[in-house]
Amino acid sequence: MNQTNISLEALNAIAEFQKIEITSAKIYASFAKRQKDEHNRKVLEQIAADEAQHAQIWKKYTNKEVKPCKLKVIFFRFLEMILGYTFVIKLLENGEYDGVANMEKLKKRNPRNCHNYQRRRKARA
Ligand SMILES: [Fe+2]
Repeated sequence: MNQTNISLEALNAIAEFQKIEITSAKIYASFAKRQKDEHNRKVLEQIAADEAQHAQIWKKYTNKEVKPCKLKVIFFRFLEMILGYTFVIKLLENGEYDGVANMEKLKKRNPRNCHNYQRRRKARA
């Protein structure tokens, strides 16, 4: 992807989306490791793989590796131990929807930057 077509503001937002996705991937992977039920573990592993794939999509725009937020991973693992993974997954999903809302704001400023993201969202629904 040619970064010269993307504004610095959009690139920074996309890097943040990339970080959210890779952090979510790490969190889901950590939940999967602790999951004893085989079916649930496989589902969590698949979600982790999906999130990692989403981060890779954003990487096409940023052309850089973004590290997960370790503090957030530790925090969500702690919450999972106290509240259970079902509740914590709902929190994570809400975080992703915040990312979607941010993308909507970005789209209003520069619709071309959001085309692939919109297509991906529709495919996921
Ligand atoms: Fe995602």
